[in-house]
Amino acid sequence: MVTYKISGARRLCGELDAQGAKNAALPILTATLLTRGLNIIENCPRILDVEVLLDILQHLGCKVTWEEDRLLVDTASADGDSIPEYLMRKMRSSVILFGALLGRLRSGEISSPGGCELGPRPINFHISAFEQMGVVIEERHGCLHGVLEHPHDTTINLEFPSVGATENIMLLAAALPCTTTIYNAAREPEIEDLQAMLCSMGAGVRGAGTPVLVIRGSGKLRPVSHTIIPDRVVAATYLIGAAVTGGELKLNHVQERHLNAATTLLSQSGCQIERLPDGLYLKAPERPRPLGVVRTMPHPGFPTDMQAIFMTYAALAQGCSVMIETIFESRFKHVPELRRLGANIVVDGRMAVITGVPWLYGATVRADDLRGGAALILAGLAAQGETRVLDNGHIARGYQTPEHFLRLLGAKIEALEGHPPALPPEEERDRG
Ligand code: EPU
Repeated sequence: MVTYKISGARRLCGELDAQGAKNAALPILTATLLTRGLNIIENCPRILDVEVLLDILQHLGCKVTWEEDRLLVDTASADGDSIPEYLMRKMRSSVILFGALLGRLRSGEISSPGGCELGPRPINFHISAFEQMGVVIEERHGCLHGVLEHPHDTTINLEFPSVGATENIMLLAAALPCTTTIYNAAREPEIEDLQAMLCSMGAGVRGAGTPVLVIRGSGKLRPVSHTIIPDRVVAATYLIGAAVTGGELKLNHVQERHLNAATTLLSQSGCQIERLPDGLYLKAPERPRPLGVVRTMPHPGFPTDMQAIFMTYAALAQGCSVMIETIFESRFKHVPELRRLGANIVVDGRMAVITGVPWLYGATVRADDLRGGAALILAGLAAQGETRVLDNGHIARGYQTPEHFLRLLGAKIEALEGHPPALPPEEERDRG
């Protein structure tokens, strides 16, 4: 358990380099399993989800070495073909290892990932696509066992542009001696990064960033050196940190086109945004204007991963904003906690109505998921007085030492290890 202790209402000002993207690092590290030899992955974020994935890769027999933010992954003797439940449970996205194992060994076993803090996380699109590609899948004692029997050219129509299903199909397809076409593929920048990696490995992949992906696989993929793209959600988090504290920030090494949805909302609501040759500059307005109606959508729409952090921003705007969460069922867990800090937010199903207030006030709150936790830290940075964000490891899953980077910008924040006194039950806190 970590408690982030924040003395708020201090302007965040300065310059930061963006960290590597979690949601690109996970499939890219997984893709190393399709090769036999030494892969060099640059700009890899040192975050908990990456550490969990590295535990899994080591369990399968890979050798892993960190050299600052460069990661060496030697897959030469990785012969494991199953991932135990205790490791699968630590990270829901480990389901993409199924595609990589099937690609490498033609068989594999994972435990069913089940649900997570965002609600039920079905994998029916993954399973159905693999079956179409010639994998025979059986469910035994809570485990999924797959054997690739008849690889052949396949056309897959995804019901929804699922990021994980698109990646899983790409990983398996890249290793097969045939052509796989995905219609209604996810278009996120992380898919483009995976395409770049698979192409360097020797597969023929094209179409990333569009709804149609064509993957011409190869039976012999080679180890590569690859640099992970910057994390757009972490970048947006620091931009909002400056925006809610009346500050200014220069963010280096971000890819501005990946942040379009965020920068459009920030500039429409009054932030001054300048595009720099290798980054972005933001200057906060006196007080933001409201955001209008924001609906989370697959890329290039407004990302669900930025919904919570933008809610903190909207909570301080001069007027009323509406946020509609269309991607995940349980992604408003930060709302009762933001209310404890003085935010005025009403939720009806998947819609939240946020009436901005001039000030938030410090309180003790609990992070229940990664992005919600980041939203609470942002609220604490803006709030008057002291805020404590109690976190059972969610924030470190995706943010590399946020307390360190925020201190560089002038924040007063400490990460205290240990068990703080328990919070009262949620109903009582809601009444409080
Ligand atoms: N879905 C299904 N069946 C499937 C797969 C998905 O019904 O077989 C549904 C999901 O339940 C959800 C929707 O489709 O309602 C979108 O799920 P998707 O598969 O696109 O998400 P994911 O691959 O599980 C990734 C990111 C998430 C991000 C989503 C959406 C990684 C490791 N995770 O998840 O990131 O929110 O795409 O963009 O890439 C985060 O970083 O905090 C995070 C949750």
